[in-house]
Amino acid sequence: MTPPKIKTTSKNSSPLKNNSSVGIESHRPQKNHPPFILWFTGLSGSGKTTLSRAVAQTLIDCGYRTYLLDGDRVRQGLSKDLGFSNADRSENIRRVAEVAKLMTDAGMITLVALISPLRADRAMARAIAGEIKFIEVFMSTPLDVCEQRDVRGLYKKARRGEITNFTGIDSNYETPIAPELNIDTSKLSAAACCTQLLRYLNDENLIQ
Ligand code: ADX
Repeated sequence: MTPPKIKTTSKNSSPLKNNSSVGIESHRPQKNHPPFILWFTGLSGSGKTTLSRAVAQTLIDCGYRTYLLDGDRVRQGLSKDLGFSNADRSENIRRVAEVAKLMTDAGMITLVALISPLRADRAMARAIAGEIKFIEVFMSTPLDVCEQRDVRGLYKKARRGEITNFTGIDSNYETPIAPELNIDTSKLSAAACCTQLLRYLNDENLIQ
């Protein structure tokens, strides 16, 4: 295995000799790439999990280290104390954005799949990412299609009033104004959606 590249500030200096933090380069994975976060936003059932998994798997197969933070999973642990009020969603998004930043600092291509319904919260996530490139992927699959899919029967429960604050039913989803990507899974096959995203990353020189 190739030893990790240690970033030094000058020819003779070592990051171990001073108190500077170790640079991103020292954590670089097998394949070099600039640090970036892929942030999937959209309604429940819009295809965030399916697409982010497919993209993550393709990147892994190509030798990139990736990590996927998915809302359903995060809510079983890191955010299990949170519900679905706007305040709780905001805290969920803040936590995940902070973790995504740490993961990216460690050299991972980090994918996040969260409904993240409010523009202000997505802007907060982007601000937390700071200098790390933040790619907002809007899963624009229309509500009626998401509701028809209803994989876990949550829309039906929300329509019956058994779940409250359900996004798209009695809780708002604010459409992104200028997402880097807009993907509608009702118009394209899963494979075509994956290709659209990978082509974008390639065009932006984020992957080779
Ligand atoms: S977010 O709004 O805070 O970004 P997140 O993506 O973590 O939401 O969680 C969404 C998942 O929680 C959905 O995929 C769904 O399975 C589940 N869920 C349970 N209750 C709700 C609700 N009231 N609104 C939306 N999703 C819910």
